[in-house]
Amino acid sequence: MFALIRLYIIIFLFEYTLSEDILLPSFLTSNQSFSSSTTSLYLCHVHQLNNSKEFFLQGYNIVNGGNTSYVHHLLLYECSIKDKLIYSGLCGMYSVRLMPRSVYHNCQTRIIIAWAKGGQLKYDYPIDTGLQITSYTQLLLEVHFESMIPSNHSIGVHLRFYPKDIKPQYEIGVLTLGTLARSPLFLPPRLNQIRFPTYCVNDCLKYYLQNNHTMNIFSILVHAHKRATRIILKENNFNRLIDRNPFEFHRQEIVYYNKPYPQINSSSELSLICYYSTENDYSKGIYGGHDSDDEMCQAFLYYYPKIESFPLCLSIPVYKNKNILNNNQNWSLKRSLLINNQLELNFNHLKTLQYEVSREAAT
Ligand SMILES: *[C@@H]1O[C@H](CO)[C@@H](O)[C@H](O)[C@H]1NC(C)=O
Ligand SMILES: *[C@@H]1O[C@H](CO)[C@@H](O)[C@H](O)[C@H]1NC(C)=O
Ligand SMILES: *[C@@H]1O[C@H](CO)[C@@H](O)[C@H](O)[C@H]1NC(C)=O
Ligand SMILES: *[C@@H]1O[C@H](CO)[C@@H](O)[C@H](O)[C@H]1NC(C)=O
Ligand SMILES: *[C@@H]1O[C@H](CO)[C@@H](O)[C@H](O)[C@H]1NC(C)=O
Ligand SMILES: *[C@@H]1O[C@H](CO)[C@@H](O)[C@H](O)[C@H]1NC(C)=O
Ligand SMILES: *[C@@H]1O[C@H](CO)[C@@H](O)[C@H](O)[C@H]1NC(C)=O
Repeated sequence: MFALIRLYIIIFLFEYTLSEDILLPSFLTSNQSFSSSTTSLYLCHVHQLNNSKEFFLQGYNIVNGGNTSYVHHLLLYECSIKDKLIYSGLCGMYSVRLMPRSVYHNCQTRIIIAWAKGGQLKYDYPIDTGLQITSYTQLLLEVHFESMIPSNHSIGVHLRFYPKDIKPQYEIGVLTLGTLARSPLFLPPRLNQIRFPTYCVNDCLKYYLQNNHTMNIFSILVHAHKRATRIILKENNFNRLIDRNPFEFHRQEIVYYNKPYPQINSSSELSLICYYSTENDYSKGIYGGHDSDDEMCQAFLYYYPKIESFPLCLSIPVYKNKNILNNNQNWSLKRSLLINNQLELNFNHLKTLQYEVSREAAT
């Protein structure tokens, strides 16, 4: 009798608590070695979730993150396509070209989890909230190792989902701020500070946050590449939501807030300001792009309750004089300062695409 009850309990737990480990496969970690010239190695693995229905993520643990000082950071991305993608191998800033293009382009945009050495190992989303994971999602795990790969345990994440068929009260939304990867971002060489502002204008928030809708921001991840030195996110020009100073490309952990969470409502306006240094570049300016040798300026706001059809609030600089983005010239400090001055004096930004698109649809 007891055995039967136990069996029921086991079946019950099996049916109703869902979790999944996404770990770097041991064939991958055991087969890597550091050459004497590198101290960094990135490994990636695409993992197929097996859910025929949507799931809601409740929290996660970093598996073995606390056991080793060799893991520098770990990122988990959600791929945007359902076509079967297969990849386990080198990746990251030194080996981007080794990844299949389809994996690189479809999986390295939406970051779900970002952890860096020293970050917390267990995280629960705010009570009654969950991040939706669509059916048969593929996830890309990227782990950055420093000087050594531990051979006796695997590294990864343990995802904890809400029980099947249970939808949390609030769905988590992710709002992307900043500018498109392939926008006219241009950084002349030889300069130790370049300021690049982007906006999520009030028009846009007024439109999406009608009827007293409020976004509760519980975490923020800012994202840029190697030349970024500082990133600030401000609300209404005075309320600093985040100031990553210095910003370090190798420490892209998510910043979590305690209650009461910062809120954004229809009277808000957001500016995300990225600072860069090109003092180690001499002959070429840097364009916007996905590679870590290009630059970006983005922030991901994790908030609830989710606002439908509001994934982006971006701004794109528009320069009257297209010639200022011309990299084909003999750069001198004087020339860099001149061009940068023209770039920084430009206040003309195209507002969020999403807003323009929905406005057009509505009229
Ligand atoms: C390990 O690496 C070697 C050399 O790069 C390769 O030939 C071999 O197939 C790899 N083994 C596995 C199990 O991936
Ligand atoms: C996916 O789930 C089905 C049904 O539970 C199971 O038969 C199958 O082995 C699973 N596939 C993987 C890759 O886990
Ligand atoms: C450390 O590794 C061991 C063995 O792999 C594992 O059981 C333990 O949970 C790990 N601890 C942490 C804090 O990750
Ligand atoms: C893994 O190996 C390292 C170095 O050999 C050792 O210090 C550590 O205790 C080992 N961890 C486990 C969980 O066996
Ligand atoms: C918004 O909130 C204010 C104060 O809380 C209230 O007076 C007002 O009626 C609300 N407006 C709507 C459209 O719900
Ligand atoms: C938005 O929030 C601010 C500060 O929290 C508050 O002063 C303002 O009245 C709110 N605006 C609306 C439209 O709810
Ligand atoms: C750059 O300088 C070199 C040598 O002084 C000259 O030949 C070349 O035409 C210059 N290029 C441009 C784009 O001005």
